[in-house]
Amino acid sequence: MEALSGFYNQEAAIMSTVQEKLLRPVAGSSTQFPKNKVTVVGVGQVGMACAISILLRDLCDEMALVDVMEDRLKGEMMDLQHGSLFLKCPKIVADKDYSVTANSRLVVVTAGVRQQEGESRLNLVQRNVNVFKSIIPQVVKYSPDCIIIVVSNPVDVLTYVTWKLSGLPKHRVIGSGTNLDSARFRYMMAEKLGIHASSFNGWVLGEHGDTSVPVWSGTNVAGVNLQKLNPEIGTEADKEQWKNVHKAVVDSAYEVIKLKGYTNWAIGMSVSDLTETIVKNLSRVHPVSTMVKDMYSIGNEVFLSLPCVLSSNGVSSVVNMTLTDGEVAQLKKSADTLWGIQKDLKNL
Ligand SMILES: NC(=O)c1ccc[n+]([C@@H]2O[C@H](COP(=O)([O-])OP(=O)(O)OC[C@H]3O[C@@H](n4cnc5c(N)ncnc54)[C@H](O)[C@@H]3O)[C@@H](O)[C@H]2O)c1
Repeated sequence: MEALSGFYNQEAAIMSTVQEKLLRPVAGSSTQFPKNKVTVVGVGQVGMACAISILLRDLCDEMALVDVMEDRLKGEMMDLQHGSLFLKCPKIVADKDYSVTANSRLVVVTAGVRQQEGESRLNLVQRNVNVFKSIIPQVVKYSPDCIIIVVSNPVDVLTYVTWKLSGLPKHRVIGSGTNLDSARFRYMMAEKLGIHASSFNGWVLGEHGDTSVPVWSGTNVAGVNLQKLNPEIGTEADKEQWKNVHKAVVDSAYEVIKLKGYTNWAIGMSVSDLTETIVKNLSRVHPVSTMVKDMYSIGNEVFLSLPCVLSSNGVSSVVNMTLTDGEVAQLKKSADTLWGIQKDLKNL
């Protein structure tokens, strides 16, 4: 497939005479390279939800799409390009060849095999490792200074795989991790309390998915700690069974997949939120997957979500959260689960 370079350049080839008469070049001006180029690898449901969310929030000055399915890739590119009038991104390109991604500031990887109904994320792993071996070295070849956000599942393992395959420093390889789980948790808790999701503060950490850890000890609204109001919140002994909210968070991906076949909108919005923090150098704190060896006595090289300060250079620091012994134990359990998978991965 021929790489397309957005409307301006395509039309310029055909209308060069008109263009020459219309536009008087200014001496000394030169071609501008993009400052905030974002690449999305994988134009499936999740990739396109990420792409449209990033575009609608005006977060990039060039977007590149990559996939192995050429017709779909071209169709998605054209469909987005046709919305150029309504976007503030002057260039949208696509190709299966990674040269189209050159000079990306941020690369969002959503390619892979989708989780099937009832399939655990961890079951996907070796299939997606093989897909990543065809992607990550190419990404780094053309954008050696990029930050990579991994979204494909199992996201924590594939973030580790990406770190290994890329050779990038750990602060520039980030998994979307429990950013989505935390958003779901905040929405569901806030619904029960009758307030907006942004006004309920709570973090889900650890593994994205089945062994994720809700930090009940830190849940609060306007600084009012919920555990002080109900010392048993989140535990089996709690008469109000608030722990069911976290269970609903864990079950929610499976439920949405059962209902519509995939999840995409919430993950797309959560990835664009991370993108905004990075491209605008906001130093906001997000629960994302980062290398946690030597934190909370975790001994292995695993990626798990902790509250991370994100800036234009990736993860600049990790918040040293005060966790209860039980929460630390759950985090270690997540780490052990992931290491149990990672240690058997081949050819990294
Ligand atoms: N981290 C999260 O919170 C989260 C949330 C939802 C989905 N996901 C994951 O995101 C991934 C994508 O989900 P989806 O629903 O978009 O799946 P999808 O099947 O709709 O799209 C996957 C895309 O990847 C492409 N692809 C496959 N191999 C490729 C390769 N080698 N190079 C480039 N592209 C390739 C496919 O052609 C397809 O277009 C899955 O792994 C899913 O589990 C993660």
